[in-house]
Amino acid sequence: MMATSATAVRTALSRAARAALLAPSVFNTQPWQWLLSGDTLTLRADHSRQLPDTDPDGRLLLLSCGAALHHARTALAAEGWTPVVRRLPDAADPDLLAVVQIGERGAPDPHARTLTEAMPRRRTDRRPFDDVPVPRQTLTTLRRLVWLEGAYLHLVRPDQVPLLAASEELAADAETSDRDYRAELDAWTHRPAGSGDGIPAETSVHPTRRPVPVRDFDPDGGADLDPGPGTDRGAAYAVLFGLAHRPLDLLRGGEALSALLLEATACGLATAPLSDAVEVSWPRNLLRAMLGGPGEPFLVIRLGHRAADSELPPVPRRPAAEVISSVPQLPIR
Ligand SMILES: Cc1cc2nc3c(=O)[nH]c(=O)nc-3n(C[C@H](O)[C@H](O)[C@H](O)COP(=O)(O)O)c2cc1C
Repeated sequence: MMATSATAVRTALSRAARAALLAPSVFNTQPWQWLLSGDTLTLRADHSRQLPDTDPDGRLLLLSCGAALHHARTALAAEGWTPVVRRLPDAADPDLLAVVQIGERGAPDPHARTLTEAMPRRRTDRRPFDDVPVPRQTLTTLRRLVWLEGAYLHLVRPDQVPLLAASEELAADAETSDRDYRAELDAWTHRPAGSGDGIPAETSVHPTRRPVPVRDFDPDGGADLDPGPGTDRGAAYAVLFGLAHRPLDLLRGGEALSALLLEATACGLATAPLSDAVEVSWPRNLLRAMLGGPGEPFLVIRLGHRAADSELPPVPRRPAAEVISSVPQLPIR
């Protein structure tokens, strides 16, 4: 074990919180707040950024925060710091999601380093993927990583794809005919300049024919991204699930989501989460039936090989100063 100074610990925690700015979040709401105090980094849920219509129970908010927590943990491990995490440590304060401290200093973890390098490259790619299937071995690795994070992955079988398509269609119909949902979607796809959040038009695609439709982020026709030549015929679909919808299940589910997306990115795959089918009760029942055993579906993930030539633009993030606050370290006497 190497010697560590208090300053080095604070610097590492601060870098970890900055890495977590890159985490995916529902509608790019980034519903989290980090506080760096002494040798401790805390993660809190920011309910002011919850989506009351799309996510009334805050499940997608917790998944998003879990993804941010995994980004922070991974960034620490990549530099050889062992993160010590207490999840939901105070029953009286449910918005305090995690307390992160540092254990031993060792050698940088090469896998964590690979995932950390994938963070700035990972994008939600809404374009159809190409016809080359995702290798079975990669899917098995992803399922194992998800399990190591305390969640589960159901790989959708070819005979289940029509049911998945039906659940996405039912969810889209229900949501787009709901005035409050439309207003929420409109608000998060037309954010004021410089807000650093929301879904920019350059990252959403017009609906195209594909086996499983994806969320239409601009039903009024403002999507700006060329869908390219893909068909999604080689795409793989996975349902991320847990045993219940308890906050801890969802937080760990979000950590598993981040582990999966970063590993897939490191393997050269394109990815896109899909949560509309879990946002509406009947499509969610269809997903649950697909699992073939006990479980609560958290989210669907589409994976595949990119068909389009063009790179996706980075999606904006809130400035670090808005998301990370820090209490100065007390001088040691
Ligand atoms: C819990 C959760 C739900 C999401 N649901 C969807 C979705 O239904 N459709 C979609 O295209 N993207 C979805 N996303 C991806 C976000 O829109 C995306 O992470 C965010 O816009 C930031 O963009 P980036 O992932 O390219 O960094 C979801 C992400 C999370 C974490």
